[in-house]
This record gives sequence, C-alpha cells and structure tokens, in this order.
Amino acid sequence: MASDTATEKWSSRFGVILAVAGSAVGLGNFLRFPGLAAQYGSGAFMVAYFISLFLIGIPICWAEWTLGRYAGQKGFHSSPGIFHVLIRRQAGKYIGVLGVIIPVVIYMYYVYIEAWCLGYFYYFLTGQLDLGQDVAAYGDFWARFVGANENGLVLGHGQNQVIVFLIIVFALNFIIIYQGIVRGIEFFCKYAMPALVVLALITLARVLTLGTPDPLKPDQNILNGLGYMWNPGDIAASLSNPQLWLAAAGQIFFSLSVGFGVIITYASYLTNEDDVALSGLAASSANEFCEVGLGGMITVPAAFVFLGAAGIVGQGTFGLGFKVLPLVFSKIPVLPWLFGGIFFFLLFLAAITSSLSMLQPGIAFLEEGLGLGRKQSVAILGLLTAIGSLFVVYFSKDLKALDTLDFWVGTFLIFVMGTIIIVIFGWILGTERGWIEAHRGAEMKIPGVFKWIIQYVSPIYLLGIFVLWVLFNVFGWDPSTGEFKPTSYILDLVGPMPDPVARLSVLFILLVMGFFLILIANAGKRWNKIAPPSG
Ligand code: ALA
Repeated sequence: MASDTATEKWSSRFGVILAVAGSAVGLGNFLRFPGLAAQYGSGAFMVAYFISLFLIGIPICWAEWTLGRYAGQKGFHSSPGIFHVLIRRQAGKYIGVLGVIIPVVIYMYYVYIEAWCLGYFYYFLTGQLDLGQDVAAYGDFWARFVGANENGLVLGHGQNQVIVFLIIVFALNFIIIYQGIVRGIEFFCKYAMPALVVLALITLARVLTLGTPDPLKPDQNILNGLGYMWNPGDIAASLSNPQLWLAAAGQIFFSLSVGFGVIITYASYLTNEDDVALSGLAASSANEFCEVGLGGMITVPAAFVFLGAAGIVGQGTFGLGFKVLPLVFSKIPVLPWLFGGIFFFLLFLAAITSSLSMLQPGIAFLEEGLGLGRKQSVAILGLLTAIGSLFVVYFSKDLKALDTLDFWVGTFLIFVMGTIIIVIFGWILGTERGWIEAHRGAEMKIPGVFKWIIQYVSPIYLLGIFVLWVLFNVFGWDPSTGEFKPTSYILDLVGPMPDPVARLSVLFILLVMGFFLILIANAGKRWNKIAPPSG
C-alpha cells in the first residue's frame, strides 16, 4: 500500500541528491545542450553558460532547496502551499499556481518525447532503424513516427506505434510515482541514475575511439569533432550576440530544472537536520558533469566524424536527436544496433527521472490542498495529464502544440517562476534569515558573496535576460535595423492569419491554470486555519 507523501521524508542524503540530479539530468543534457553549444560557437556559449550558472542557476537552486525545506517543516509541500506560508498574504498561494502548472504542462509534452526515445531504443535493437545512409530517410521515419506531417495522424491512420510507447512510458511514470517519495522516486533514481552514467560512459568510450572512420575524409576525425564542439572561436564577437546570452540562460533553467516548481517540492521532504547547501551543490554539479562532460562530448563529435559540420548545422534539438544521431549510430562499424540502442535507452532513463519529478508537485498539491489520498491524487493527475498529452499527440502537425506549450510554459513561465523564487528568498524571507535557513544542518558554508548575488545580481540579471527575451522572442527586434517584426509565436495568436492550434494550445494552458486556481481558492480555506495569512 503506497503511503501519502505528505508525511514522507527522503530516506537518505544520497537518495535525495540522486532524485534532484535525476530531475535535472534529462533530454536537455544530451540533446538540447550540445545543439545550442554547437550552434552558438561553444567557447563563447560556455562563457555565457557558466556566468548564468553562477549568477542564476546555483543561486535559484539554493533558494529552492532552502525555501522548500523551510515550508516543508510547516507541513507544506506544493508551491501554492509553500508560497502561502512564505508570502503570508492571500495572493501568495495564487502565485504558487505556477509551480503546479509548469511541471504538469511540461510533463504533457516531455513524456511524448520520452516515448520517442523508448521507441528508438526498441527499433534499434530490432534492426528497424537500419534505414540506409541518407539523413532524409531518418527524417521521414521520424516525421511519420511522431505524426509531424498531419494532425491526428498518429491517432487515426495506422501510424499508431508511438501511442503504444506513450502508453508504456505514461504507465511507468504513474506506477513509480504512486509508490511515493522513498519507495517510488528515490528507489528508482538510485538505480536509474548510476545506470544512465554507465551507459553514457560506454557510449562516450565508443565515440572517442572512432578515430577517422572514413579514410577518404581525413578531416572528419574525432579530434576535429571535439574541436568543432569545443574550440573557442571568436569569443568576443560571439558574446556581443544577445541571443547567445538568452540561449545560455534558458539552457541553465531548463537543464537544472530550476523555476519548474520541482526542486522546491522535493526539498520540502527534507528535515531541518538535513543539509541543503552541499546537497544542492552536489545535485547541480552532477547535472553539469552529465551535461558538459558527457552530453557535450558524445552527440556533436559523433555526428561530426560521420557527417561533418554540414550534417549538424541547423538541425535543431529534434533533428540532431532523432534524424542525425540514428544515422550516425547506424554507421558505427561494429554492433551499430547495440550502440544505438544503448544511447536511446540512456536518453529514456534521463527523460523518465525528469518526467517523474514533474508529477510530484501536482500530486503534493492535490493531497495537501484538497485533502485527497494518494490514489485519488494520482488518478486525477493521471487523467489531466493524459488529456494534455493526447492534445499534444493529436495536434502533431509540425509539432505545433508541443512547440507552443514549450515556448510559453517551458521557457517563458520558468523564467517568471525562477524570478519569483529568488525575490522571495532575497526580499520576502530576507537574505539574513534565508542564510540562517540555508545553513541549518549544512555541511558547507556558502561563500558570502552569494548573499549579495542572490539579493541584487540575480534579480537584475534575470530582469535583463527577460527584457531581451521579450524583445527578441516576442517582438522580434532586429538590432541591426532597429525594426520590430513580431515572431510567429505572437503572429500565431494575434496576427492577421492566426494559427488555430497555437491559439488552442494557449487556451489550454489558461484552462489548466484556471482549473488549479479554483482548486487553490478552495485549498486556501483549509490552509488559513493552519497558517493564517498576515494581510
Ligand atoms: N531538466 C530536465 C532536462 O534537462 C527537464 O531535460
């Protein structure tokens, strides 16, 4: 019998670190990061990336760990509840809606990509991904598999294999989450995370020993592949590109799972004796190791040795992951199916430890907000996310629904949520008090400079990034001409020829938000009795 998570605590420090690292290490590490680093010229990208890591990534992580544990001691585990005790105003709990809808909506499309990874693993092992030597063949396969050519395709016209994989991963996620914090998330991550690292090391060893696979193309060797990924290039020129800073900051958010509402919920299951400073840093470092040390060494160098730079440029995350890499693995001289299978299984493990983490904030809210048991909470969340995933799967043409949800929730709202968290830590709880909380039970002292960074630098940096993001990604500002040309994300909604699927997707987000806001209003009545607001 699964227990209610409201009274659960992590069973070990190693377990919670692996669970948070599991949430962080995901598709972002192995597909999104290498794609962005290669696109922007890795040397410069890494400068902006590490600046973002130190100025926003690690500070927000510490803030989430600290605030989560603080509120957890008062009996709150979901972000509406956590914000209710932290902000102590009626509005607090409503702001916390972000920490529920962000993970829930991201889950709806993330789990679909997770299903592709499991599908590709299966197709590699069964030899069905041996499609010849042409990237176009892999492109066609992928488009048919995910239904990118037509809406409703995967549901209606025989291309329904992806649905089978989706049902499998959906069920797996819910079976694990139903077991609770210790027997579900912690238990699974304790095995999945080390397994993932071992599989990544095997893949890395294979990639680094590829040498020069085609003697007729001596330039396409592994050293040049690593150089293509890591040579600094003209750092100064690249750093003057604001888009690079946006991409780097966005990657830090997505990759560390900060601003998702996940870490704050995970941390609420800690006790005051537990350490948050060192554990937070350890989980972030594990993510960086997997991202820079593994993701950054495998994907792009492997693609380079077989296809050269031309095969990588402009592919985007999905192109790189599901068109280029399958072709690349099928060119590996010995046991190509095995290495392809290993890679996609490792992607699947990385994805499932992340998607699991996106369910817990919603479950925590249903349990503590409505007083529901675990079974009912899991059932309600299962139904809601199934509707959302079917929406994404049905409107699959050009992956429009997926892309729209990712833009507004997986990019825009996580910036907003991250900013709210850092402001609560620095200005509402206050850095002095926050510092004491962060060091309760801590096994390391956070360098004093971070006090100043959290209070002033992070909010200002976030504000700058946010203004740039709106200028470029919403209003389509072109700094060379000074003109504004609204991007497709805006034109799809309010342009002369709006896109019905984009509009429906935004309406869907608003409906999910409305649904949770109504539940939060109800939850507030219970919470006011436990922790009355002060204003
Ligand atoms: N942090 C998770 C990832 O990188 C969401 O995929």
